[in-house]
Amino acid sequence: MARPERVGAASHRPSRQSYDAIAASYDEAIGDELNSKPLDRALLAALVERCSGGVVADLGCGPGHVAAELARGGVVALGVDLSPGMCRRALGRGVPSAAGDLVDLPLADSSLAGLVCWYALIHLTEEERAVAYDEMARVLAPGGSALVAFHTGDAEARPGDCRRLESWMGEPVELSFYFLDPAREIAAAESAGLRLTARLDRLPAGGEHPSTRSYLLLELPEPPPSKSAA
Ligand SMILES: C[S@@+](CC[C@H](N)C(=O)[O-])C[C@H]1O[C@@H](n2cnc3c(N)ncnc32)[C@H](O)[C@@H]1O
Repeated sequence: MARPERVGAASHRPSRQSYDAIAASYDEAIGDELNSKPLDRALLAALVERCSGGVVADLGCGPGHVAAELARGGVVALGVDLSPGMCRRALGRGVPSAAGDLVDLPLADSSLAGLVCWYALIHLTEEERAVAYDEMARVLAPGGSALVAFHTGDAEARPGDCRRLESWMGEPVELSFYFLDPAREIAAAESAGLRLTARLDRLPAGGEHPSTRSYLLLELPEPPPSKSAA
């Protein structure tokens, strides 16, 4: 099936520059967050078990702390992020990482046992997210798993709302944050050929931005066995 013209890649320059500007501060603020997030660690452990030592990419990996946790679990973890500054932070954690865009992944077809995409789809429009789900389905091997996380709302925002930030962590930024509706994301992922295995909705943990969050565990189904001629 012909994919739409790569949407977004060029228009993501402001996001890239913004995350480059805050990469070090973000790492300092978030880089050890998993220590106090047993539920997030448990989800990652489940993904690791499903991927049994295969290659798992963290898409929108930020400073690479999630990918490092995956590697500790026993898979071959790598990172992809729009921001070269974030990729450098991930490399500093020992995570092989490359700059790339969710709508045009620098990964071969069917090359991954699994992938994680936490709080990165929130920067894409609905049209771009549809392309990103297509890309996830393209790079996963049949039977592979994807674990996606996003914000769904907070005191001022509901699913579907967009918040624009002009300053973050003491730096001028140009970032759009979309609060996503889990049912719409599941439908978009399923349109790309992914199948929902599990969904977890949770409240913010202490120290986090006070938003509600949703985690989707998705699978690329194996093709049905071909019927041999009788
Ligand atoms: C909120 S941070 C999340 C980082 C990390 N996944 C985490 O859970 O802490 C969003 C990350 O997504 C990356 N990002 C934003 N838009 C992207 C895109 N179109 N393609 C790839 N990465 C993107 C940013 O550079 C940033 O590192």
